Amino acid sequence: MNEAVDCILREAIPSDAEAILELLNETAIQTDFMTLGPEGIHLSVEEEMKQLDLIYDSLNNVVFVASVNDKIIGVASINASTEPKVAHIGEVGIVLNENYWGMGLGSLMMEELLLWAEDTDILSRLELKVQERNSRARYLYEKLGFKLEAVMERGVKDGEKLLNVCLMSKLI
Ligand SMILES: CC(C)(COP(=O)(O)OP(=O)(O)OC[C@H]1O[C@@H](n2cnc3c(N)ncnc32)[C@H](O)[C@@H]1OP(=O)(O)O)[C@@H](O)C(=O)NCCC(=O)NCCS
Repeated sequence: MNEAVDCILREAIPSDAEAILELLNETAIQTDFMTLGPEGIHLSVEEEMKQLDLIYDSLNNVVFVASVNDKIIGVASINASTEPKVAHIGEVGIVLNENYWGMGLGSLMMEELLLWAEDTDILSRLELKVQERNSRARYLYEKLGFKLEAVMERGVKDGEKLLNVCLMSKLI
């Protein structure tokens, strides 16, 4: 960790909806590594509140938020289906405000997600997609046991550039 920050990590609740949307819209401008672009997220605060409410009660979905001085600066999530045949698969997502990169917070959040996932009786496979050029995120996932399964050629478009995307997974 380069510098110490007092960061609180906890499960998201519906009243976090507005701050989470703000973070996602802010980080979509800061980095090209997200699927969300500068156009921002098409979800109202009310819709996000409803989703967070459902997720809070779900056994195979979770959203964690990281906050510093009461401001949400990071979100990490597992998104899974209710369909029995695929309910054991959780899709992992993580993003931090750029001002907080490189402090170890991404690792902490991922570790927390993994502990949560291991505690469920449902999830047995975590998967994620990450741009091939996103070496920091790929390093982090490999460090925590994710394996490369495939490279999806032209898996994402950034402006006129067609970029490869890595499909990674971890069995738990
Ligand atoms: C990816 C992200 C969550 C990582 O969080 P973070 O807090 O910056 O990561 P950490 O500080 O915990 O760890 C980064 C590790 O990567 C290493 N690292 C940093 N830059 C790197 C690079 N360019 N290549 C490889 N490794 C790198 C660090 O040395 C550190 O290693 P260590 O844990 O062995 O000390 C964060 O940078 C982010 O939100 N990025 C933008 C959104 C994004 O890319 N999300 C993932 C989409 S799939």
